[in-house]
Amino acid sequence: MDYSKSKPFPKDFLWGASTSAYQVEGAWDEDGKGLSVIDMGKHPEGTSDFKVASDHYHRYKEDIALFAEMGLKAYRFSIAWTRIYPKGTGEINEKGIAFYNDLINELLSHNIEPIVTMYHFDLPYALQEKGGWSNRETIDAYVNYAKTLFKYFGDRVKYWLTINEQNMMILHGAAIGTLDPKIENPQKELYQQNHHMLLAQAKAMKLCHEMCPNAKIGPAPNIISIYPASSKPEDIIAASNFSSIRNWLYLDAAVFGRYNSIAWSYMEEKGYTPIIQEGDMEILKSGKPDFIAFNYYSTSTVAESKNDPSDKNSTGDQQIAIGEEGVYRGVSNPYLEKTQFGWEIDPVGFRSTLREINERYNLPLLVTENGLGAYDKLEEGDVVNDDYRIDFLKKHIEQARLAITDGVNLIGYCPWSAIDLVSTHQGISKRYGFIYVNRDEFDLKDLRRIKKKSFYWYKDVIESNGEKT
Ligand code: BG6
Repeated sequence: MDYSKSKPFPKDFLWGASTSAYQVEGAWDEDGKGLSVIDMGKHPEGTSDFKVASDHYHRYKEDIALFAEMGLKAYRFSIAWTRIYPKGTGEINEKGIAFYNDLINELLSHNIEPIVTMYHFDLPYALQEKGGWSNRETIDAYVNYAKTLFKYFGDRVKYWLTINEQNMMILHGAAIGTLDPKIENPQKELYQQNHHMLLAQAKAMKLCHEMCPNAKIGPAPNIISIYPASSKPEDIIAASNFSSIRNWLYLDAAVFGRYNSIAWSYMEEKGYTPIIQEGDMEILKSGKPDFIAFNYYSTSTVAESKNDPSDKNSTGDQQIAIGEEGVYRGVSNPYLEKTQFGWEIDPVGFRSTLREINERYNLPLLVTENGLGAYDKLEEGDVVNDDYRIDFLKKHIEQARLAITDGVNLIGYCPWSAIDLVSTHQGISKRYGFIYVNRDEFDLKDLRRIKKKSFYWYKDVIESNGEKT
């Protein structure tokens, strides 16, 4: 399609940017905050922990002023469950409520729409100690937490996201730091946890509609097109297998309230099927999302399984296709370049992903993450020339516009990340932000904020409603 003939971005398009609480806030044990599984986790050698992160907890006013200067229409952030309920449930921590009240009010005073992720990887450790998502009581704790968020913030927050990347927590929990190391036979247990998260999500969506009739709520998995390595029929089946297990399992459950049949037969074959109690399927059906939020970084390409253990070429990284004996085998795509961290760069795959989700669910779509992790260099005079990031985002925005022209109801685009933050397992050196934070892995320096070249570029994009990229 000819880009010059494509439709414009809608007038009220949510040009935004994203972060998550534990990766940006710091203040890990301040003002009554409880410990999360992330606080208790191990960090790969040479990478920072999350104790200070970008110190956003103390500098949110300065940061929001910069977001406003950049012209953001929306800011997607997560609430740390452990600031609201230090033990996951029980007593509310008023200081946590106060912090997010202030943050939301500050955003609104700058006309920035808050988009709130209710849970972004940081499960309260007190719940983990009682079995985490393996324990059905965690469903109640999550719903109780959701109720508190709707009660305190529902008068001002119009967009809610239930759970960030539930699919990555199931498939790559060890890499992102959410997998409980005590679980001996993780795969089977993880699908039980997955079932419980799906129930919690459905209940929260229903509750949101009851408590905040003007708000909208949706899931936020990581969804990507899966390409077959060739036109060989077995490769096509492998791609369909992986797509069902990685993508559609999560969205079919959220939207239709049922398990995807291919994913279910996969779980049966492997012995991973969850125990489903009476009434569970009704609960799943009772939660209806208003939109689908999703994170997109790259596509995956897969070939037929070789049916031997060499299929298990896991790299422990959430965006690099692994494999599974008898199911599929991840291969690298010869047509795509890679980032400095080995993630394939595929803007056209972004369009294809948007089209696929739209065709399958026919709901409004909101992109809640997309971006380039790179080793940025702070040059003399406080300059960061991140042209590679501009190039990456520009190409994705152009493809988003083509997808809109294809008929996709895209309501917003929130790249990762608004400001530099600590990556899930590759430290602060893997930067994504429009704003540079002056610190290294272990030297916190002065944490000062520096506008990167991409900051000025994104400001122009927003100002021109996507006409100028
Ligand atoms: C997503 C997460 O998986 O990708 C974010 O929702 C994460 O929390 C982002 O930071 C980029 O991944 P990484 O591993 O480079 O931080």
